[in-house]
This record gives sequence, C-alpha cells and structure tokens, in this order.
Amino acid sequence: MKLVLAVSGASGIGLAKKFIDYLPNNIDVHLVMSEHSKIVSYFEENITIHDNKTISASIASGSFGVDVTVVIPCSMNTLAKISCGIADNLVTRVASVAIKERKALLLAPREMPFSAIALENMHKLSSLGVIIAPPVMGYYSDSNSLEDMEKFIIGKWYDVLGIEHNLYKRWE
Ligand SMILES: Cc1cc2nc3c(=O)[nH]c(=O)nc-3n(C[C@H](O)[C@H](O)[C@H](O)COP(=O)(O)O)c2cc1C
Repeated sequence: MKLVLAVSGASGIGLAKKFIDYLPNNIDVHLVMSEHSKIVSYFEENITIHDNKTISASIASGSFGVDVTVVIPCSMNTLAKISCGIADNLVTRVASVAIKERKALLLAPREMPFSAIALENMHKLSSLGVIIAPPVMGYYSDSNSLEDMEKFIIGKWYDVLGIEHNLYKRWE
C-alpha cells in the first residue's frame, strides 16, 4: 500500500508521528508537512519526506498510484482549502488528487468548538466520500492513560483505512 501522510498546522502533531510509528512495515509511507507544522526532524527517517512547495513531487500526480491519503492533524485552514478544491501546496494537492482519483482520503480536523463554516466544509467533503475522523477520545476501551487514548484514536483511523492493528480493546 502507498500511503501519504499530510500534516497541517493544527495541534496534535504527536498523533501524526504515532500514526506512522504503529503502521505495519510493508506500507510505503510518504510524508509532507505544511509550513505551519515544520518539525520534520521529529519524524523517523525510513519514510520519504516531500517538501510542501514541491508541487512536482511524485505524490502530486494521480498516476503515482497513492492508495490512501490522510491529513493528521487537519487545520481549519487546510480543511477549507480542500473543500474548495484549492491545491496551492503539496498538502492540499495530494488531498485534491485523492478526491479526483476517488481514493481513500481521511481528514482529522483538530479544533474545538467547530465553527459553522468548518462544519459546512466537513459536510461537503463527507458527501464526496471523504472520511472525516477528528481525534475524539473513546471511553469504552479500558483507556487509562493519554497513550491508551491516542492508541484508540489511531486504531479507529486504521480501522476505516483497512490497516490491521491491535491498538485498542474492542467492544465485546
Ligand atoms: C500553537 C498553535 C496551535 C494551533 N492549533 C490549531 C488547531 O488546533 N486547529 C486549527 O485549525 N488551527 C490551529 N492553529 C492555526 C493554524 O496553524 C493556522 O490557521 C495556519 O494558517 C494553518 O496553516 P496550514 O493549514 O497550511 O497548516 C494553531 C496555530 C498555532 C500557532
């Protein structure tokens, strides 16, 4: 599987790092970060890191064949751009490619509370088949720490993307 992780400038960047850490080894991961989320050295190096300005990167083309694109965390700014079809950097471009190619696109909007504008943007994208999956904590899987809560959230993301994991205790 070819997976693009796009990181925008909302809080919760640690979740993006852990999203990569828990992935199975057989996934080809490409990382792109918006200017407002620049802490690239925070990430491990066994992944392909793209410059957000390099609009000619492989992952900017539908022909590269990305299977899954995730934006974690997704700022309200990046959400608004994606919902309008703006592709002015590599983060927003890879999202627009996923939509046009009808490939899996997951956005993890991080804001609280959400404005009506953000909710409209999410509704529009959800209607197009985009997975809107904010980092919302779960209280039913024996989570006793922040790490457990984060594993639950990442496990839920993996579930909708069809990535196998054992990150949280399922409801029985
Ligand atoms: C410390 C800090 C935390 C922020 N957290 C959020 C957030 O949780 N959600 C959000 O939508 N924007 C947040 N912002 C604002 C975005 O960084 C800002 O809107 C920026 O323009 C987003 O650009 P990007 O979408 O290109 O990454 C935060 C900014 C700072 C400085």
